[in-house]
Amino acid sequence: MKNIVLYKKLSAELMTRLRQQAQVTCIDDLSADGLARLRDALPTAHGLLGASLRLDAGLLDLAPQLEAVSSVSVGIDNYDLDYLTRRGILLTNTPDVLTETTADTGFALILATARRVTELAAWVRAGQWRKSIGPAQFGSDVHGKTLGIVGMGRIGEALARRGHFGFGMPILYHSHSPKPEVEQRYAAGYRSLEALLEESDFVCLTVPLTAATEGLIGARELARMRPESILINISRGKVVDETALLEALQAGRLRGAGLDVFEREPLPADSPLLRLDNLVATPHIGSATHETREAMARCAVDNLLAALAGRRPANLVNPAALEVAQTTG
Ligand code: DGY
Repeated sequence: MKNIVLYKKLSAELMTRLRQQAQVTCIDDLSADGLARLRDALPTAHGLLGASLRLDAGLLDLAPQLEAVSSVSVGIDNYDLDYLTRRGILLTNTPDVLTETTADTGFALILATARRVTELAAWVRAGQWRKSIGPAQFGSDVHGKTLGIVGMGRIGEALARRGHFGFGMPILYHSHSPKPEVEQRYAAGYRSLEALLEESDFVCLTVPLTAATEGLIGARELARMRPESILINISRGKVVDETALLEALQAGRLRGAGLDVFEREPLPADSPLLRLDNLVATPHIGSATHETREAMARCAVDNLLAALAGRRPANLVNPAALEVAQTTG
């Protein structure tokens, strides 16, 4: 039987499935103790399944028998893809099943920032609602405003659909190359990043974190945005220069920001970002619903079992690793 190491809790049903086909070691958390147990389990591991852990060469070198890593995420920025491929280790992820939920999170942030939902809910709780509200509590419209989407992958398209059909928003987008089918479906317009920043009321980031997108939105880009516009980030924290964003928000050069992801997670409680009324911060909840997390876990289990059984997993990120595995294995 193959050995699988889990560093993510799974439902009883999925655990039963895995245990029918493999020897399973569970690392319940990624505390110092948990990491020590992970290191102990790596030398005999054939498969790994989990999320939110940077699996670097230092760790992977402890796992000479490793055949597959199944990430319970769509993002793969925690992995050294070249290294995995060179070693013939298959990497899989969980796209599709989280698309709609993550786009919902994007819209939750759009609505929360524009209509000041969290700020005003805290104001009510603090006993400040003593008379009818006035302009000091007004927000700005979402419907009919221009939605600029940076990165037109699955999640970008799900946002475009919501914006176009649900809120009557003109849609602009920026991606590697124009996507005529998206333009047709949502009456969307392709723009350079600069033009998108200048023309959008909401700029929503959905790009994966890569060397090319790290720091994509810095002081120069923020300066191009309209003072009444709002930045939404549901991709990865490092896509935005947080210091530049803080300065822009403090100076009133942007109306607000809705961030689900941060340069450092968990976001430290003393982060100056949390002192801003015009910032809505959520704890990386993009895909975090019961239904979607279970679907992601199921997808990750399917991927891993397929890989360990010698079948091509449905969500293989590095197909080149298959060839390496065939020549070395
Ligand atoms: C993903 O799936 O990449 C989400 O951001 C959760 O990490």
